[in-house]
Amino acid sequence: MKKVLVTGGLGYIGSHTAVELLDAGYEVLIIDDLSNAELDVLEGIERITGTKPHFEKIDLRIKDDVEDFFLRNEVDGIIHFAASKAVGESVANPLLYYENNLHTLTYLLQQCLKHEIHHFIFSSSCTVYGQPDELPITEDAPVKAAYSPYGNTKQISEEILVDTCKATDLQSISLRYFNPIGAHDSAEIGELPIGTPQNLVPFITQTAAGLREALSVFGDDYPTPDGSCIRDYIHVVDLAEAHVIALQRLFNKQNDAGYEVYNLGTGRGCSVLEVVSAFEKVSGQKLNYKIVARRPGDVISVYADTSKAKEMLGWSTKLTMEDALESAWKWEKKIRNL
Ligand code: UD1
Repeated sequence: MKKVLVTGGLGYIGSHTAVELLDAGYEVLIIDDLSNAELDVLEGIERITGTKPHFEKIDLRIKDDVEDFFLRNEVDGIIHFAASKAVGESVANPLLYYENNLHTLTYLLQQCLKHEIHHFIFSSSCTVYGQPDELPITEDAPVKAAYSPYGNTKQISEEILVDTCKATDLQSISLRYFNPIGAHDSAEIGELPIGTPQNLVPFITQTAAGLREALSVFGDDYPTPDGSCIRDYIHVVDLAEAHVIALQRLFNKQNDAGYEVYNLGTGRGCSVLEVVSAFEKVSGQKLNYKIVARRPGDVISVYADTSKAKEMLGWSTKLTMEDALESAWKWEKKIRNL
């Protein structure tokens, strides 16, 4: 049984990926600093899979603790999620982001080289494309100047991986996510934003649950069919499955190059107002929302060309946006005891 370390494994995407790895027969070890995750998530994973992964609370910025973990634990591959991800916070506190997202990556990679761990999956983002010149976006689209320190850390992380793969026998895949939404169908795990949600779907479900007065739709005067921004919303369970497939590709030596990148999206662009109306349909309730000014830094329209992932990984999404919204709503109702 191959052992996979999932950093940030109690977070939103990490926890769903841990479940998919366990279901696929891997042994899972989780590191998380609990800065943006709850320890209870471990029990959620256990209730779904029947297995409680080995867990260690480690802050990856503490190099000695990272070294110590790898002296005590043997792993065959790493899926690295642990990172800070709030765009606004990164603008206000850039050094936190450079330390949290970049130092940690170099410490982990040093351990990979030291302990001959050759397989590394990295959690990247479509944010590296900025506002692309052409839609849908292929992996060959140029990486544009980052809009935020957060986005910059994703670009620099990819460069760190490119250089390390070139210089060593590390094999790595960066997965560029579009907009992950939804929750595990069991409602045992899901997204748990701290404070006021910045992302669209948690804001919608919290509004429907009565925690927020109204959703603010950021702009209806964009050059799109209904005037609101367009994104590619992907079910987190589909996204999690792609991580397992990417890792298997490395384990089975099926990769064409030491470093590869893949877009993970549905290929379908959907506007904010379309998400609102799809949510109203699946939840059976009217959502209170108002149109407000554009949010600074938002790009107009972003959606993936998914053909590379389809062709090379044999992966494409199976679940719909409606499935995702339904599961997100089921999760919100469960955690609010509704
Ligand atoms: C962005 C990044 C993504 C990153 C994520 C981290 C891009 C294209 N995407 O996602 O890579 O991982 O931040 O948080 O840069 N909206 C509202 N009202 C709200 C919240 C959002 O109208 O209360 C709208 C936004 O204007 C946007 C859409 O909903 O059009 C999605 O927003 P959000 O969920 O925050 O994700 P992105 O900004 O697309």
